[in-house]
Amino acid sequence: MSFQSIFGSDPDVVAAAPGRINLIGEHIDYSDGFVLPFAISSRTTVAIKKRNDQKIRLASAQRHSTIFESSIGQLHPGAEGKWERYPLGVIWALGVKDGLDIFVDGRVPLGAGLSSSAALECSVAVALNHLFDLKLTNTELAKLTQKAENDFVGMPCGIMDQSISLMGQAGHALLLDCRDLSTKLIPIDLAASDLELLIIDTQAHHSLVDGGYAERRGNCEAAAAKLGKSMRELNLAELESGKSKLTEVEYRRARHAVTEIARVLECVKALEEKDFALVGKLLNGSHQSLRDDYNVSCPELDLAADTANSNGALGARMIGGGYGGSAIALLKKEDVDSVKGKIAEAFTKAGFRNPRFFSSSPASGASVIECK
Ligand code: GLA
Repeated sequence: MSFQSIFGSDPDVVAAAPGRINLIGEHIDYSDGFVLPFAISSRTTVAIKKRNDQKIRLASAQRHSTIFESSIGQLHPGAEGKWERYPLGVIWALGVKDGLDIFVDGRVPLGAGLSSSAALECSVAVALNHLFDLKLTNTELAKLTQKAENDFVGMPCGIMDQSISLMGQAGHALLLDCRDLSTKLIPIDLAASDLELLIIDTQAHHSLVDGGYAERRGNCEAAAAKLGKSMRELNLAELESGKSKLTEVEYRRARHAVTEIARVLECVKALEEKDFALVGKLLNGSHQSLRDDYNVSCPELDLAADTANSNGALGARMIGGGYGGSAIALLKKEDVDSVKGKIAEAFTKAGFRNPRFFSSSPASGASVIECK
């Protein structure tokens, strides 16, 4: 199935954007923190052609030949659609006024916490930026795609996923300062140290995710307002001394944010020094904090991380929003197969769904791959 077979002509532009894993720095992008994600090799490709009217037609290789129709005039926050709301939101956020035919081939595993939605948004954004010669920078595109997700789709996400999907570089993780969006590329070559980062998709999707995310973001914003400082300006001693101003929950959420920001910066140093034992410890610290202070883990993620650790991992943690999706484990290459087997076995024993395993070294970000 292709753009040609659905719409009967050739597209004007084809672009692709990747999903991501986040090495460390979870649930702190919306708290002015630092994050350290990298782009993975799974990508979403989008083919787009300009129309002479205001119609928008959308089809996807994963949804067979069903065509979803809308129009420029119907674009407003909360508009109808399922996956279609992501590309529609981007068209809206970029202020495009021409009709479009769009064909999507999404190869980032859905619901696995690997940012298939950011891959979709960013592939559309990069294609439209090229097609309409908008000359938007990656930082501007990151803000606009985040706006599409926040205001059009209604998910109050931070800016990490869109930024890494746009700005990833092969062989590097991206240290992103979520306050000013400045970046630093951090080289990562795990294979050279006989290591691999295993991605474990737990296939669990707990329904709490939407409300829970907004609530935690709200807890951190409330803590920052009460203490008069953003999470990245606070240290643990200041947090302790301001504890009485916070509710117990706000205090724990803020403790996660403050310690996680410190772990990210320490992890960058450890990577630069190739101290992978320390990287592993930091991953474990992140998982514990997300589990105990942020309460966004779930039994499947805990079991994946614990099983990896009890079978030789240097460290392991949940990634992404939580309540399901994926975990990562830093492993010696020689242990990868046995750890996969142990995790699969533990999941069967616990009565969980079969996990899926992936692996990816840091890949490049979004790009135009064909144009007329
Ligand atoms: C989701 C959001 C991101 C980020 C992560 C948690 O992936 O889209 O902005 O907040 O959760 O780190």
